Amino acid sequence: MKVLVVNGSPSGERGKTWWVAKRFVDGMKDAKAEVTIVHLQGKKIHHCTGELACWLKTPGKCIHKDDMDFILPFFYEVEAVVLASPVYVDGMTGLLKNFVDRLVPTVEPFFEIRNGHIRHPARNTKISRVALVSVCGFPEMDNFDPIVHHVRAICRNMNAKFAGAVLRPAAPALDAAKIFHPFKTWDVSGAIKKAGIEFVQDGEISDETAATAAMEIFSAEDYKREANKSFEKALKRIEEKKK
Ligand SMILES: Cc1cc2nc3c(=O)[nH]c(=O)nc-3n(C[C@H](O)[C@H](O)[C@H](O)COP(=O)(O)O)c2cc1C
Repeated sequence: MKVLVVNGSPSGERGKTWWVAKRFVDGMKDAKAEVTIVHLQGKKIHHCTGELACWLKTPGKCIHKDDMDFILPFFYEVEAVVLASPVYVDGMTGLLKNFVDRLVPTVEPFFEIRNGHIRHPARNTKISRVALVSVCGFPEMDNFDPIVHHVRAICRNMNAKFAGAVLRPAAPALDAAKIFHPFKTWDVSGAIKKAGIEFVQDGEISDETAATAAMEIFSAEDYKREANKSFEKALKRIEEKKK
């Protein structure tokens, strides 16, 4: 199976989104998937300007000539897509939303009725399933509700199955977690990789695996205290440098 992974984290390979996504990729590769990875950080992708020339004047072709020209051929080739993004202000990053908006040339303008909704038919894509990989800074799982809801809706629009999500809350603590809770971190890492295997082999991520990937590592109280200490230290360092 060919899979396209799109990492919408502005931190690229340095970010916690990639910390999670790369383990998911390892799992997919173990399950013999052929994986193409695109980090949107540093790519030149103009935002959609809404003329819909890609439907009418130049069907299937966007008027903007940029890095989307190199990414779209992969999009047409794959059977599965992984959308990866940190939660930014309760949703996906602008980078990922920008990318998703620029997929409009991959559908036709005509309407069809699918599952009781008017939709656009795909132009020539063969994507049957989509998974979400997301991380966030707060420790509660409900911070992911809007992004999961959004990606589910995108799947309905794309006529693809939403195959589940690997969600990692309190992601900035992952490095500290490795030191203070190595066994839990090991379990989380293993579950993320297993989710990649399940996505390829079973067509969806099991609830049990997703729950292990999202397990609490630090209590909210500990997380709050340590995060506040490190914010204080960082502010002090900057103040001292100014002197
Ligand atoms: C602009 C901005 C907005 C953010 N908004 C949220 C938010 O709404 N909820 C949340 O839990 N974390 C939020 N975060 C925290 C990030 O999701 C978290 O730091 C994550 O690890 C960043 O991903 P990265 O490491 O791949 O860059 C935000 C971070 C930034 C920079």
